[in-house]
Amino acid sequence: MGMKVANMVTLAYLLFHACLLFPSSTSAYRSTYIVHKDMSVMPKAFASHDQWYLATLNSLKAVNGSTTSNADNSTARLLYTYTNAIHGFSAVLSPEELETLKKSHGFVSAYPDRTVKLHTTHTTEFLSLNPNTGLWPASNFGKDVIVGVIDSGVWPESESFKDDGMTEVPASWKGACDFGGDSNTSLCNRKLIGARFFNKGGRAAGDDSEDMNTARDMDGHGTHIASTIAGNYVEGASFFGYANGTARGVAPRARLAVYNPIFSFSGYSSDIIASIDQAIADGVDVISISMGFDRIPLYEDPIAIASFAAMEKGVLVSSSAGNDGPLASTVKNGAPWLLTVGASSDDRQFAGTLTLGNGVSIVGWSLFPANAWRVGVSLVYNETLLACNSSKLLSDQAAGSIVICLDNSNLGAQIDNVTASSVAGAIFVSNDPHFFEAGDLPCPAVVISPMDVPKVIEYAKSSDSPSVTMKFQQTFIGTKTAPSAATYSSRGPANHPGILKPDLVAPGTKVLAAWIPNTSTARIGLDLELTSDYILASGTSASCPQASGVAALLKGAHPDWSPAAIRSAMMTTANPLDNTFNPMRDNGDNHQPATPLAIGSGQVDPNKALDPGLIYDADAQDYVNFLCSLNFTREQLLTITRSSSYNCSTISSDLNYPSFVALFSNTSRTVQEFHRTVTNVGDGASTYRVKLMLPKGISISVTPDTLVFKEKHEKLSFVVSVKGGPPTERNVSYGSLVWADDGGNHTVRSPIVVL
Ligand SMILES: *[C@@H]1O[C@H](CO)[C@@H](O)[C@H](O)[C@H]1NC(C)=O
Ligand SMILES: *[C@@H]1O[C@H](CO)[C@@H](O)[C@H](O)[C@H]1NC(C)=O
Ligand SMILES: *[C@@H]1O[C@H](CO)[C@@H](O)[C@H](O)[C@H]1NC(C)=O
Ligand SMILES: *[C@@H]1O[C@H](CO)[C@@H](O)[C@H](O)[C@H]1NC(C)=O
Ligand SMILES: *[C@@H]1O[C@H](CO)[C@@H](O)[C@H](O)[C@H]1NC(C)=O
Ligand SMILES: *[C@@H]1O[C@H](CO)[C@@H](O)[C@H](O)[C@H]1NC(C)=O
Ligand SMILES: *[C@@H]1O[C@H](CO)[C@@H](O)[C@H](O)[C@H]1NC(C)=O
Ligand SMILES: *[C@@H]1O[C@H](CO)[C@@H](O)[C@H](O)[C@H]1NC(C)=O
Ligand SMILES: *[C@@H]1O[C@H](CO)[C@@H](O)[C@H](O)[C@H]1NC(C)=O
Ligand SMILES: *[C@@H]1O[C@H](CO)[C@@H](O)[C@H](O)[C@H]1NC(C)=O
Ligand SMILES: *[C@@H]1O[C@H](CO)[C@@H](O)[C@H](O)[C@H]1NC(C)=O
Ligand SMILES: *[C@@H]1O[C@H](CO)[C@@H](O)[C@H](O)[C@H]1NC(C)=O
Repeated sequence: MGMKVANMVTLAYLLFHACLLFPSSTSAYRSTYIVHKDMSVMPKAFASHDQWYLATLNSLKAVNGSTTSNADNSTARLLYTYTNAIHGFSAVLSPEELETLKKSHGFVSAYPDRTVKLHTTHTTEFLSLNPNTGLWPASNFGKDVIVGVIDSGVWPESESFKDDGMTEVPASWKGACDFGGDSNTSLCNRKLIGARFFNKGGRAAGDDSEDMNTARDMDGHGTHIASTIAGNYVEGASFFGYANGTARGVAPRARLAVYNPIFSFSGYSSDIIASIDQAIADGVDVISISMGFDRIPLYEDPIAIASFAAMEKGVLVSSSAGNDGPLASTVKNGAPWLLTVGASSDDRQFAGTLTLGNGVSIVGWSLFPANAWRVGVSLVYNETLLACNSSKLLSDQAAGSIVICLDNSNLGAQIDNVTASSVAGAIFVSNDPHFFEAGDLPCPAVVISPMDVPKVIEYAKSSDSPSVTMKFQQTFIGTKTAPSAATYSSRGPANHPGILKPDLVAPGTKVLAAWIPNTSTARIGLDLELTSDYILASGTSASCPQASGVAALLKGAHPDWSPAAIRSAMMTTANPLDNTFNPMRDNGDNHQPATPLAIGSGQVDPNKALDPGLIYDADAQDYVNFLCSLNFTREQLLTITRSSSYNCSTISSDLNYPSFVALFSNTSRTVQEFHRTVTNVGDGASTYRVKLMLPKGISISVTPDTLVFKEKHEKLSFVVSVKGGPPTERNVSYGSLVWADDGGNHTVRSPIVVL
């Protein structure tokens, strides 16, 4: 499903751009633009920004005397005026109108509406959250924190959104419950406190689908995300028996407000900006957004731009890194004020067991969606069938039997052939991590490791009438080694390679969460479609909401922390090791140690993030100083910052970030200095000493190498000087800088990456 969706979106994107190259007639050729204005020069005559924007647009109509119509492209037409996320509006304009608009008073910039990619592909025990100690009790399980979810809406009747145990909605909540139908408010409650949809950009682009006019989720993505962040406790949730247990979000007492700019898996910048604009106005504390634009400049990236405004208001925006890994330079949402979340695979294995006629048992991978057995079925080992690449041959030779299919690097086609045949089941062989991360299994089968194959073949060859029993629906926890970087998770370096992205990883593989009840979530055979209220989904779409949930808990425990402080706490306490205490491995790189370009600072560790010791804080002006180093024009800068009260009197690419990237490749530089300031958020006086793990071929000095804090909230600065040259292997070398306190209570770790 993930592939199909991605292709559709890409296709729409190409068509959209191809059209721009061949405009036919001017009036037919109107399309949507996001227009930024400089509010500081708004004439006093206008009582509000809406009036000013409308007057600007009306002046275009006046030029050519068009009539106003809301349904067609015959005239310039306003879609949204924005208030919080950007200063400006979106409108349907002809190229000529756009040119005229560019000459209007206070114009800053304009760019075409774009389609966005949802980061779909097709958990929390592992995060060690404990009801009795750590972040859960410290944050009251996220009580009264409001998370805004920008996605495909929500299925409000899901058990995960019932409001048992939730207190009254605070009077300060300014949101609304608008499902577009007649049942509006009755669908919201004390858990799901807001729902809205945004479709004007989509409609203007000619889209027209049933799911555009409602906040109801018609594809499942938004429901999965919202329940992952803050779903209530639901006992006995499972995906056809797999991952059976009590489902609940990372912040089970936080509230949810959903904003739906997505329909048919696709969305437009204009609608996404409107969503974030509204979420800020409504008063959410954290925003979660599992989608991203392909590497466009920051000043045209609606998520980056709108998130800057959110950050200024103290709202952390948690975003997904994308599913284009393991290729390098694929990470999305690289803006330095975003939390950018990659994905890891966790320690659960979904399994089936084979018992051979001789009593030998073998556990393999399975997700066959039924509580079913195959008992004492004949086992076929036939050299000419081992490729399992013809359903006809399989049906002719092995109908009603279980076949052995050897690894031919095309497991997907083998599964399809077995499913289309009349065999009773199959034993597949593979250790392809990507399949275990995202694969489905519509035929009764178990996928075993190559190590186990000889046992099966020897038995099949030696027995006169070999047989096998298969059992499904098993879930094992504690598999070594985990976590590991997920194959699909997008990799750095980011667009602006001096900022390390992703920031961290969270579990994103086969995450169990709520789904919508009326689409197929699994299949048996060729055409038996199954539904399920809970499914296992993989992607950074599934990992981002886990981090959003942790951010919500931290906001609950530390209401005074800035977005940068919350992110810093999550990054400096993240764990780069796996459950064997070795460096986390990379499923997308042959199980080599994962570099920070795959996992950032490591896997988020909520309980440690509660008490990080030190934080690397940053405010809006710090980000502006960084933007100034990118040589943007005044207009480009103003597009992002909205306010001309920012200026470039300080230009610094050296942001106070909790990770370090030294750029030596393609430069003659051999030394790079970093200036950092840390704030003591521990309990009073403490002394921290630096510990370094040097990247290969690099020397590092830190001055001073000891930080003596006399009190809480005190800030101290240090300088890191990195000497050396470009990496000699794997295009990256890396190490770390750790501030460790004398009591041994805090280790504040930052990865150091050399490119
Ligand atoms: C108005 O129409 C004229 C001629 O048809 C055209 O040149 C001009 O660009 C139009 N102006 C706008 C704002 O569309
Ligand atoms: C649903 O809510 C929206 C927004 O608050 C409102 O415009 C609409 O009239 C409501 N519908 C009903 C039937 O109450
Ligand atoms: C308006 O223009 C867009 C983009 O060219 C097109 O896709 C859409 O179908 C047009 N809408 C109408 C109602 O003609
Ligand atoms: C899920 O677990 C519960 C409690 O352990 C058990 O009663 C129930 O039968 C299980 N359901 C499935 C489908 O395995
Ligand atoms: C193996 O399969 C081939 C055809 O693919 C068939 O001709 C042959 O009889 C089979 N061997 C046995 C032992 O069933
Ligand atoms: C199936 O696999 C066999 C053995 O590898 C190969 O000879 C044959 O060409 C394959 N057939 C197809 C249709 O791929
Ligand atoms: C069977 O396998 C072949 C070769 O891998 C593939 O081309 C074909 O599409 C598969 N058939 C089915 C029904 O999936
Ligand atoms: C699912 O249910 C919704 C709400 O009743 C409905 O609008 C939608 O068409 C249904 N989707 C499918 C695929 O049946
Ligand atoms: C910005 O411009 C300065 C001076 O021209 C140049 O040294 C620097 O490399 C530029 N920075 C970027 C990010 O392009
Ligand atoms: C730039 O901004 C700083 C901080 O807001 C302010 O003190 C300074 O006066 C500004 N400089 C100019 C030239 O506007
Ligand atoms: C470390 O933490 C423990 C428990 O919170 C506390 O009792 C102890 O004083 C701390 N040690 C130092 C040196 O801060
Ligand atoms: C160095 O330049 C090469 C060629 O332009 C480019 O592919 C590579 O990404 C650059 N490396 C860095 C770290 O910027």
